[in-house]
Amino acid sequence: MPDALVAKELGRRYVWRGGSRQALTGLDLRIPQGGLLGLIGRNGAGKTTFVRIATTQLLPTSGHLSVLGQDVVSEAPEVRRRIAVIPQESRPLYWLTPRELVAYYLRMRGTPRREAEERSKVALQELALIPWADVQVNRLSGGLRRRAMVAMVMASDAEMIFLDEPTTGLDPLARRSVWAAIRKAVGEHRTVVLTTHYLDEAEALSDRLALLEGGRLLLEGTPREVASHVRYPYRVSVESGFTEEELRSYGEVSRIGTRLLVFTHEEEAREIARRGLERGARLALGPVSLEDIFIQMVGEEFQNEAGEEAEHG
Ligand SMILES: Nc1ncnc2c1ncn2[C@@H]1O[C@H](COP(=O)(O)OP(=O)(O)O)[C@@H](O)[C@H]1O
Ligand SMILES: [Mg+2]
Repeated sequence: MPDALVAKELGRRYVWRGGSRQALTGLDLRIPQGGLLGLIGRNGAGKTTFVRIATTQLLPTSGHLSVLGQDVVSEAPEVRRRIAVIPQESRPLYWLTPRELVAYYLRMRGTPRREAEERSKVALQELALIPWADVQVNRLSGGLRRRAMVAMVMASDAEMIFLDEPTTGLDPLARRSVWAAIRKAVGEHRTVVLTTHYLDEAEALSDRLALLEGGRLLLEGTPREVASHVRYPYRVSVESGFTEEELRSYGEVSRIGTRLLVFTHEEEAREIARRGLERGARLALGPVSLEDIFIQMVGEEFQNEAGEEAEHG
């Protein structure tokens, strides 16, 4: 399978009068063709900077990036023809209807009128937007607007699609309806890059994950591979039957309300379960969630940062 995207030592430094910031550093990343890559990381991690470089809206200051085999700097026009993007915080033109929005977008990309109308209709149907197809966008809810934008890029012939935080600010139900639209938009032959800081979203949609932190790639791989990188792959939530002291011998313990949360190894998790059963303790256990992984990986950096700040401050 050829790679849809290859980044080599990619870097971006923002420079302004009186200051500068390295937003991406030595990023090496390959995204195989097909499926959805969830690009995760907290605010300021460098996700949007990466998306803007990959979609030819921003120049890198070091390294190289090719998308669909073409260089984003020297072959930018070719790349643009083959990709589609929903930038962070973008909104559809409010005076259009979803049907017009999708059709005009296709027309701008050079699709003949008849074909644009036909493809718009199919996309609107697939994303369950037909009841609102002819209503002005400014009268639609936030969730429907984002779905209309997903319909727009989905209807296009783009081989690679970038969605930068498509669900930020939406309520949980609207988010799920956008997820459903994204799932449909991931065709067998397309590659989708979705940035998010919602880990449930990344977990629900991604075939692969890449975690950025402070402009660096902390890890990349299938969810299973990512999970194998963490120190403690199991989590046990204990409600009764154990003291905090006792649990500390098994792994990392934190208290959440009345529960004790233990991050631990598989063997230790079994041991806690065995002991718990003998004592009639209330507990639940399972592999860590993506959120747990994130907190284990990024939480360490976060604490180091806090420590550094304290030292300097
Ligand atoms: N145009 C810009 N000028 C200066 N700094 C910027 C600019 N855009 C982003 N940054 C900085 O670069 C870093 C990465 O930002 P960004 O790529 O937007 O991260 P994310 O999308 O993960 O939240 C942040 O520290 C941000 O403040
Ligand atoms: Mg961003």
